[in-house]
Amino acid sequence: MTNVIIKESEDQPNLSIETPRLHIRTSRYEDADAMTAMLQVPGVADRLALFKLPYEPIESEIWCMNAETGLASENNWLMAILHRENEKQIGCIGLHRDAAVGGDWLPTRSAASYTNTAEIGYWIGKDHWGHGYASEAVGAMLYFGFEKRDLTMIHASASPENEQSDHILLRHQFRQCGTFMREIADGRTRPSVRYELTAPEWRANHG
Ligand SMILES: CC(C)(COP(=O)(O)OP(=O)(O)OC[C@H]1O[C@@H](n2cnc3c(N)ncnc32)[C@H](O)[C@@H]1OP(=O)(O)O)[C@@H](O)C(=O)NCCC(=O)NCCS
Repeated sequence: MTNVIIKESEDQPNLSIETPRLHIRTSRYEDADAMTAMLQVPGVADRLALFKLPYEPIESEIWCMNAETGLASENNWLMAILHRENEKQIGCIGLHRDAAVGGDWLPTRSAASYTNTAEIGYWIGKDHWGHGYASEAVGAMLYFGFEKRDLTMIHASASPENEQSDHILLRHQFRQCGTFMREIADGRTRPSVRYELTAPEWRANHG
């Protein structure tokens, strides 16, 4: 992908990805207040499986605090999405390497085909919806995951009513694999659509 530039620094732990309009970099503690303000707007945090509701500032602080160790362990890339032109944060995107085979989705393929996989999740502050930012960020993280970390498959899940997310994932050639009951942060479960994109499927469109 010629329009995605990836910079990795070892002196100061940071992953930085530039796309035409976005700067996507490892989250930092000072991002937490801006994140909280965007996530507390109805329709953002409540569509994500990751956070307890009502959304509390501590959740942003935990995300930011985990970003450096996640980067160092190569298990959890917790990234802020910023406008390139003014470096203001507009959302977050995460790539979370799977600790267990398939999470709470029962895989339909052999376990061997699920090694080195990760889940992708993302949100954009409501004031910035509808400009293609999430799609641009997803494209960049897929490139990073498949080309720079040799992931074999990236998966996502979203509630069946989440038409924007469905649109973004299908646009990036994810396949819908079925609906399952996903355990979410507060111990409840909710119906979720499982999406998957394998490295060969991704490469077929980015040769
Ligand atoms: C989902 C979310 C990230 C989208 O952010 P965004 O930057 O507005 O998304 P984009 O502009 O890149 O793409 C949205 C796409 O959905 C399409 N869309 C918007 N409303 C739609 C609808 N009701 N039905 C179908 N498609 C719709 C848009 O046309 C656009 O597609 P296009 O680029 O092909 O035109 C944002 O709404 C959000 O943060 N929601 C809350 C958190 C969330 O749901 N995260 C995803 C969980 S996996």
